[in-house]
Amino acid sequence: MSKKTLLELVEELEKEKALLLRGGGEKALKKQHEAGKLTARERIELLVDEGSFEEIDLFIEHRADRFGMAERKLPADGVVTGFGTIEGRVVFVYSQDFTVMGGSLGEMHARKITKIMDMALKVGAPIIGINDSGGARIQEGIDSLSGYGQIFFRNTQASGVIPQIALILGPCAGGAVYSPALMDFIFMVEGESKMFVTGPQVVKAATGEEISAEDLGGATTHATKSGVAHFVASTEEECFLKVRTLLSYLPSNNVEDPPVGDSSDPWNRHNTPLLEIVSPHPNKPYDMKEVVEELVDRGSFLEVQKDFARNIIVGFSRIGGQVVGVVANQPYHLAGCLDINAADKASRFIRFCDCFNIPLLTLVDVPGFLPGSNQELGGIIRHGAKMLYAYSEATVPKITVILRKAYGGAYLAMCSRDLGADLVLAWPTAEIAVMGAEGAVDIIFRQEIEKALDSEVEREKLLEQYRQEFYNPYQAARRGYVDEVIDPRETRIKVAKALEVFWSKREEGKGKKHGNFPV
Ligand code: HXC
Repeated sequence: MSKKTLLELVEELEKEKALLLRGGGEKALKKQHEAGKLTARERIELLVDEGSFEEIDLFIEHRADRFGMAERKLPADGVVTGFGTIEGRVVFVYSQDFTVMGGSLGEMHARKITKIMDMALKVGAPIIGINDSGGARIQEGIDSLSGYGQIFFRNTQASGVIPQIALILGPCAGGAVYSPALMDFIFMVEGESKMFVTGPQVVKAATGEEISAEDLGGATTHATKSGVAHFVASTEEECFLKVRTLLSYLPSNNVEDPPVGDSSDPWNRHNTPLLEIVSPHPNKPYDMKEVVEELVDRGSFLEVQKDFARNIIVGFSRIGGQVVGVVANQPYHLAGCLDINAADKASRFIRFCDCFNIPLLTLVDVPGFLPGSNQELGGIIRHGAKMLYAYSEATVPKITVILRKAYGGAYLAMCSRDLGADLVLAWPTAEIAVMGAEGAVDIIFRQEIEKALDSEVEREKLLEQYRQEFYNPYQAARRGYVDEVIDPRETRIKVAKALEVFWSKREEGKGKKHGNFPV
């Protein structure tokens, strides 16, 4: 029996905890701060509601014994795990501690992460992973690799059940990048975050190519070129704020509805500015972002992947306080054509919204799929198919508004009636056709144009005839592909009413294991 009093035992406990909470020690902490980075626990404190974090598994120890590991003490095994709240809602968090052996991931480090993931799944609360690590702990060999495998497995099990958010606040290299890639959203910080499967040295050794770590895997690279990053912040503090903002649009799990936000902006506000923003001339570009911002609740638009595939816009917003996922063509970039990257970006967003009961609002002004050998050889067929699949599969309320062009396969891909749109609205400027007049007339009237006395005059006449026939929403409305032709100023009102009506829509799954999503 212990001769110590309970108070003495508590004092010992506090001492031991204080030792462990120092992480990798003064020198390593100083190095972390000098690199402009916060420590694992400082990050969590800034991310969650003040005083809400409960750390677990502080006493975990590794059990490796090779390469001098038996003698090494690694506080908390290099990762801080636990739960807290954000705006009062429960979240589970892990935060790798770079001051402890470079935040490298060994067997017990991984076990801490998988334990917290299992808890998040059981509770039905988001998981947030803060990554800052040299990757697999080399000394632990296959046990480290197995640890990653177990995390990947749980990322996949959790996909579509709880939101998963990855913050990259340091290096994230090798196979370690795949846990964030399996999650829903990746946040990076300019100048600080790096993600690559093989770093610059390996690239140089294997291919001779010289490239900096920043150009290969920095935040800007992944936000603009690869599309790996969804959000970029200039500081860690800003990054945590952005995570909190994102969570304000998301339910905690797939059986909850998204939180209803402030609805001080009247749902029946008229959109008179739209008459100025959108030109009726089909070839005159405009900024679709202005349209989105005018339609949704003031200041509520949170754009996702804003610098990647800018020909399509995706993001969360609210109408009458109710969360809605917006997908919109952007005539400012590539005339709003759909291409490989746009299809990838939109499809993933549509699927996320469908997983988490977020209705979809699709704004259409699309001249078609982008032509060219780059696109064809890059597989626009299989990438474009993702959009058709994602919209067809989605069972959340789907409201579509056609503003101007809606041509061919791209018309279908932008949540047409035939892909299951619940309500299709069109402005009087809508043009719904198999293709634009120029291409169409040269195909269907080739002989007439060739035989005509003056080919140019004949072609002009036929172009005008085609435009009269198809450059309006009425043929589609007569067939019921468009439900209502509306005054653009009433778009917000019409969408708000549609969201209200279709909110209770329920569609049963098809009883199959899962479909074969094109990739
Ligand atoms: C063991 C590691 C480590 C690792 C870093 N450390 N990475 N220990 N395994 N993977 C240790 C260092 O030895 C050092 O220990 C401490 O962490 C800090 O590292 P430094 O090198 O001093 O820091 P810095 O100069 O900032 O450089 C950070 C770094 C570098 C760029 C991350 O450490 C690095 O290149 N590490 C190796 C990265 C890597 O190749 N990892 C394997 C990737 S493959 P001391 O004791 O000196 O403080 C992979 C496969 C995953 O992860 C597969 C999943 C399927």
